Amino acid sequence: MTVRWQAEAIWESVAPVLPGFTVEVLPEVDSTNSELMRRARAGLTDPVLLVAHRQTAGRGRLGRTWSDGAAKDPAEAGLPSLVFSLGLPLAPADWSGLSLAVGLSVVQSLHPDLRLKWPNDVWLQERKLAGILVETAGVGGVRYLVVGVGINIAVPDANGLRTPPAGLCELLAGLDAPALLTRVAEPLVRAILLFEAQGFAALRQAFHERDLLYGRTVECSDGVIGVARGVDASGALLVHTENGLIKITSAEVSVRPASSANRT
Ligand code: BTN
Repeated sequence: MTVRWQAEAIWESVAPVLPGFTVEVLPEVDSTNSELMRRARAGLTDPVLLVAHRQTAGRGRLGRTWSDGAAKDPAEAGLPSLVFSLGLPLAPADWSGLSLAVGLSVVQSLHPDLRLKWPNDVWLQERKLAGILVETAGVGGVRYLVVGVGINIAVPDANGLRTPPAGLCELLAGLDAPALLTRVAEPLVRAILLFEAQGFAALRQAFHERDLLYGRTVECSDGVIGVARGVDASGALLVHTENGLIKITSAEVSVRPASSANRT
């Protein structure tokens, strides 16, 4: 299968705002996030967009795995998903809300029908279409950010998945992995740089407009149950419980819609 990435076009649009930026394509890697984290720890901290045709050990949030999915006919079809990581040194005054800002950029680049399930899962109605893994490494006084994005293009096999999956082909016919990368890469870089300059507060209303959970009953992994009431200026999830309004910030908390009947 020949895959033609538009690496030069991406480089031309991003390099002016991110000096030293490069685009790199690998046929196979364990995980694009793991690769950039290894490089950062070895002192390689230039800005880079690393895209892979295939990951052998893709990683998700909360220690989960991430599968690239399988094309129905690998000889004929294009890549079943787009997997890439963006690495760059970043120095915001406050890191809170970064993962929400990243999710927001991805949904805004993709389709108006997509929603964000806090903090940054991309959902189409009641199914997950894309996932984002944000990690950082401290290197000699600098913090290196690695943002990993996996977007289903084909609809993956639902077997073994906690959440039923969706594919972008359901919304946008004919969009292959290279076209998709070109569509999301530059806005993502700009969104991260805007976050670095302004923080999350300026993005709160835009997040609200894409918030899957708002007004729905949610259940957190620590047992807290309540009605989701959006996010605060730092990106914390607000949940109205019988004991009052609480803020959920921990990455260890998973929030699941308990019912779709409660949306207001
Ligand atoms: C999640 O929803 O749990 C996050 C999934 C993130 C998957 C992407 S695919 C590219 C990058 N490399 C990885 O190993 N993970 C991220």
